Amino acid sequence: MSRSIGLSPEIVEYVRRANRAEHPALARCRTETDAMGDVSRMQISPEQGAFLQMCARLVSARTAVEVGVFTGYSALATILAMRDMHGEAARLIGCDISEDYTGKARSYWDEAGVTDQIELRIGDARETLAGLVDARGGTVDMIFIDADKTGYDAYYEAALSLVRRGGLILFDNVLWGGSVADPDRVRVDADTAALAALAETLRADARVDIAFTGLGDGILMALKR
Ligand SMILES: C[S@@+](CC[C@H](N)C(=O)[O-])C[C@H]1O[C@@H](n2cnc3c(N)ncnc32)[C@H](O)[C@@H]1O
Repeated sequence: MSRSIGLSPEIVEYVRRANRAEHPALARCRTETDAMGDVSRMQISPEQGAFLQMCARLVSARTAVEVGVFTGYSALATILAMRDMHGEAARLIGCDISEDYTGKARSYWDEAGVTDQIELRIGDARETLAGLVDARGGTVDMIFIDADKTGYDAYYEAALSLVRRGGLILFDNVLWGGSVADPDRVRVDADTAALAALAETLRADARVDIAFTGLGDGILMALKR
């Protein structure tokens, strides 16, 4: 799982204990994904999961979209909060390019009894989102973007069309390990450059209100006006 930048292990541990315990299916997803090795860093942390759940509650999300499902942790955290509010009417559409990673998600979603409430769409999210905009433009309550960083700009425009007024768009990894604050990295690294450009775009975009937070590896929030 990912780690919060700049927090000592003791403080991370304190934050984890201060939050409520994860659903057992979330805990199993985290443990088994950790066992996958280095790639497990792609998974959000438990406190980011709690944060996503709070965001879903704050916008009373009934329909959500996620770009970047991996082994299913963030999707499961989100749908659990949504189901708590809206029961069977809660729906999450998950977009990912990998059958392999997302294939692992199913057992955690099954354990939590939410598989029927998550629709997984495999393919490049640029195309998946374009199709969703046609079918569901202006109806989505919350979108979590956590996939290829050079795609964030395109995902942002699609997300803006997808969410309703007052809907929330969240981008993960906007600090990119801190490299966005290093002009040399911004110059030479495409992912860093894309994330720095996104932050500038949103800062100037009158269509949204924003909050750039330092939670985890940075979460940028944009609320559609
Ligand atoms: C950082 S991980 C997502 C982590 C997940 N949110 C979690 O908390 O476990 C990024 C995911 O984006 C997917 N991905 C990468 N490029 C993509 C693209 N062009 N379209 C859709 N998904 C993509 C990868 O397969 C990977 O599963």
